[in-house]
Amino acid sequence: TWTPARFVDLTVAELKEKIGNQKVVLGLSGGVDSSVAAVLLHQAIGENLYCIFVNNGLLRKDEFSSVLEQYKGMGLNVKGVDASSRFLDALAGISDPETKRKKIGNTFIDVFDDEAHQIQEVSFLAQGTIYPDVIESVSVNGPSVTIKSHHNVGGLPDFMKLKVVEPLRMLFKDEVRRVGAELGISNKLLGRHPFPGPGLAIRILGDITPEKVRILQEVDAIFINGLRKWDLYDQVWQAGAMLLPVSSVGVMGDERTYEKVVALRAVESTDGMTADWVDLPYAFLQETSNKIINQVKGVNRVVYDISSKPPATIEWE
Ligand code: XMP
Repeated sequence: TWTPARFVDLTVAELKEKIGNQKVVLGLSGGVDSSVAAVLLHQAIGENLYCIFVNNGLLRKDEFSSVLEQYKGMGLNVKGVDASSRFLDALAGISDPETKRKKIGNTFIDVFDDEAHQIQEVSFLAQGTIYPDVIESVSVNGPSVTIKSHHNVGGLPDFMKLKVVEPLRMLFKDEVRRVGAELGISNKLLGRHPFPGPGLAIRILGDITPEKVRILQEVDAIFINGLRKWDLYDQVWQAGAMLLPVSSVGVMGDERTYEKVVALRAVESTDGMTADWVDLPYAFLQETSNKIINQVKGVNRVVYDISSKPPATIEWE
């Protein structure tokens, strides 16, 4: 029978055998799959695993530094690359959701390729692909789709010519979490909500500016920290905030304001294919809305999304 302990023993032995003392590069996203894949490989080959964690400037507030610290604390050989301005420059003036995804995917490839070239004589590309990614032609986890559409024309970037190693490709998500726990990865990391590869870019409707990213990071942090404080985080499958491309009239003191509207979204789901909005307590929504409006300059109205998927998607773009 399958147990996490046996899986770890077997896989570590197989990886040692397959890789020997060659070098492996892996892109960390901060999510569960890439983190578990990294720790597993690290057990097998130690410092020959080179991890790269890219800040695309579209992560949650403080996420880049806190997750990087966490990875270092886990003993991983990880390089944090702050490429925020490269991504934000590439996105300037773009409003179309699919174009945003393409730009982000392409920029990620360029940044990752540059970094992979810095490692001398790397032989393998490791990925945190899991079984649902293998069977579904379209993965919800990352830029794989965009990579293919873009680079068929100009030829593959060098890192994509590496031999691929995917130690989790036979596992379902719950098995990945159990393997992660077996490897001693913290529950906080293993229980993290899914977060889309394009990050806040697809939660800022319309074009993206550094100021809009900053506003949304503040709003999102108040919402997510509130969910944790109220012990609601683990009851929600995914949550986040959307910055809407409309302004509405408000009043502050005896002045009228004309500022942004944000929408909060929290859903229950098992795989993201269908989802229901979560009936969060009114007292929580009230506290969260007050905090957002009082603390985040530029926002004067908060709404809560009560749409199910289908027909509404989880993200607004
Ligand atoms: P939707 O909005 O399609 O989202 O209901 C379903 C799940 O997929 C995530 N999502 C993405 N993840 N790149 C990703 O890595 C993307 O372009 C992307 N679009 C949506 C979304 O966060 C949800 O978990």
